[in-house]
Amino acid sequence: MTNITVIGTGYLGATHAACMAELGYDVLGIDRDAHKISELSQGYAPFYEPGLNELIAKHTASGRLRFSTSFAEAADFADVHFLCVGTPQLPGSDAADLRYVDSVVDELVPLIDGRALLIGKSTVPVGTCERLGARIARLTATSDARIELAWNPEFLREGSAVQDTLAPDRLVVGVDSITAEETLRDLYRPLTDSGIPFLSTDFATAELVKVSANSFLATKISFINAMAEICEVAGADVTQLAQALSHDPRIGSRFLSPGLGFGGGCLPKDIRGFVARATELGVGGSVAFLKEVDAINLRRRTRTVELARELCGGSFEDKHITIWGAAFKPDSDDIRDSPALAVADAISELGGRITVCDPQATENARRRHPGFAFTADPLVAAKGAHVVLHLTEWAMFQDVDPVLAARHAQDLCILDARNTLDAARWRSAGWQYARLGQRPSKPAPAFV
Ligand code: UDX
Repeated sequence: MTNITVIGTGYLGATHAACMAELGYDVLGIDRDAHKISELSQGYAPFYEPGLNELIAKHTASGRLRFSTSFAEAADFADVHFLCVGTPQLPGSDAADLRYVDSVVDELVPLIDGRALLIGKSTVPVGTCERLGARIARLTATSDARIELAWNPEFLREGSAVQDTLAPDRLVVGVDSITAEETLRDLYRPLTDSGIPFLSTDFATAELVKVSANSFLATKISFINAMAEICEVAGADVTQLAQALSHDPRIGSRFLSPGLGFGGGCLPKDIRGFVARATELGVGGSVAFLKEVDAINLRRRTRTVELARELCGGSFEDKHITIWGAAFKPDSDDIRDSPALAVADAISELGGRITVCDPQATENARRRHPGFAFTADPLVAAKGAHVVLHLTEWAMFQDVDPVLAARHAQDLCILDARNTLDAARWRSAGWQYARLGQRPSKPAPAFV
């Protein structure tokens, strides 16, 4: 079977490398970070992702999965290379920072002799493939190397990354030659044989599929959160509104959960990067609505801080604020652009004393916020609380017994900014229960 390399071993690359080994390939994972490579080589994922540790351990033990920091080793090992490096937001700009993608091309390409296929998986602005193609042509102008490029965007979600990679909704590849397309069809045969759709297109369309998918998802979330803003002043209940909308199969219930909104390493930076790129192309107006999608999303954080302050009697000074959740979403330890930590930060700036509880992300959060107290126990976190803020919907928070929690808190006051706790249970245990998307003082009657 074909040998492959996976360059960049973050959330995307480490998962892709382990899953390609699971599909039967001999895989070499490459990263500059020697510490990460050492952890991976010992069979450990350097971050929390359900099922990933097991897969890495299985295939480092079987010998099908190895890791290295050496690009020379990568060039020797395989002639199919997946590029999975990060494309974060450029500091001080909305555009994507492509320096890691560019530097992989600059380092790897001169080491390749003969034929090779570079397959990009990172999320990039439309036009990147064309630019990289020209870069590769320049780098190989005086060599015998024949290097082709393809783009194969990745749609995995953190928290279900292994499942999403082994059973994706679809495979999309951007190619400009039949040989590149055939190599990709062969590589993914184990998935397409089980019925997963394989869509082959040009470079630009493949690049756009990824950012437009993320833009659509972000828009859906901000749509329901815009409705939440209206509900708060009109005296309606956005949870019931979302439920009623979701029965229409054209709308559906997924990504229609009102609450604190989206964060993470993808959605926020991808919609900003899309607006920046469309503006460069002279069609910024076509995606100007994404600026409002972003603004609505960020306003949910401000609204949560305001509501929490009201619940604290108008000031956070000398108040103990319990924050349930640090990761940007459940089943992840990723705190990049975490809405929960953004709210915690704003409250801390206003004088609140913060205790954060998260089952997986406390180590990452502690490094960034050394002034906060941390615990993995929601009841310990609630000790002395003037208000408890439920900001990331880990299943364990739904299991907390409100009667027990009442013995720990100073004031029985909870703000459910993810709208997933059982309101009736908390109220009957004596708590003042508030959520986003309804008039705080007027609990809506049950939907029957
Ligand atoms: C997203 C895309 O889903 C994935 O296809 C792409 O490859 C990468 O970006 P991810 O960032 O892992 O994946 O998480 P996702 O499950 O999409 O959630 C993103 C954010 O939206 C989270 O902060 C989540 O809490 C929030 N969200 C999601 C809502 O606020 N409401 C919803 O209804 C759904």
